Amino acid sequence: MSIRNTNHFVSVDDLGDGEVSGLLDAADACHDERPRGALANTVVAPLFFQPSTRTRLGFETAALRLGASVAGFADPNSSRASAATQESYEDTIRTVSAMADLIVVRSGIDQGGRLAASLASCPVINAGDEREHPSQALIDAFTMRRLLREDRGMSLDSAHVGFTGCTSNRCTTPLLKLLARLGVPRISFLVEPGRSPDAAMLAGLRTAGASVRVTESLDDVLADCDVVSATPRDTRFTRDATKAYEGDATAMPASHVITGDAIRRTGSRAFIMHPLPRRNEISTCVDHLPNAAYFRQVAFSIPVRMAIYARVANILPGNAHPAFA
Ligand code: NCD
Repeated sequence: MSIRNTNHFVSVDDLGDGEVSGLLDAADACHDERPRGALANTVVAPLFFQPSTRTRLGFETAALRLGASVAGFADPNSSRASAATQESYEDTIRTVSAMADLIVVRSGIDQGGRLAASLASCPVINAGDEREHPSQALIDAFTMRRLLREDRGMSLDSAHVGFTGCTSNRCTTPLLKLLARLGVPRISFLVEPGRSPDAAMLAGLRTAGASVRVTESLDDVLADCDVVSATPRDTRFTRDATKAYEGDATAMPASHVITGDAIRRTGSRAFIMHPLPRRNEISTCVDHLPNAAYFRQVAFSIPVRMAIYARVANILPGNAHPAFA
């Protein structure tokens, strides 16, 4: 199959009304029915200019499960974009799009996904640029929706979702937009003393109808929320001397670390999620508790990435491809 369209997946902002839940429904179908062969005779090119474990292997696994072949790089130093020869990002994208049917790019540069989409003659999936990691946001929304539905009989539009750690990274920023669009009514943010989430982001959530709480108490978040998503601290603060953390900038303060004790003390039933990799945000004691959802989240990444491929290849359910019929 040759895929020549401009159905890029660069930002959650590009998803039209109904498309978010349509994609999540398609991911449910991919999870439950495992469509095979939908991308047969297609070459997917993962171009990873930044290190990755879950995202690259997840996109490669999803491509292989759909019958595609994979030809790309995990490290730009194995290509002419290496430090030694410095072929430009633009030329690298143009070159690969002359060979592949679909590009999956982790650029790490500002608007790198959008730039690649403007240059490529095949669809581009943004696997993480400086601002946005839209597939991870979709995986996180899918995980919340699926776990709440399956294990609690709840829907997202009655859920209380909590966040610890950074609220402005490339995973959380698009996730919050998705949760607002999916009608999550209550969101709690755990903040460190003297810090606050981005005011425009809070205003956007309130305008979307969510009730938003900002608290310094981990216990409040664990006790009240149905799902708690943890991320590392915002290390971008370290670039601004006036906002720098004291001590180890990458380590969460002990009072904000999710531990087995904190879960027992609060009687929390919250699903604990994390895009990973973790630093000290979640203690390994939590791994054995029923709350731990971060490795289930990794497993859910495959059907979600299969659904993203189906969207860019124009073969989502409803588009009459037999694999999704
Ligand atoms: C991200 C990563 O590893 O780069 N996690 C993920 O893709 N599951 C986290 C990040 O964006 O820093």
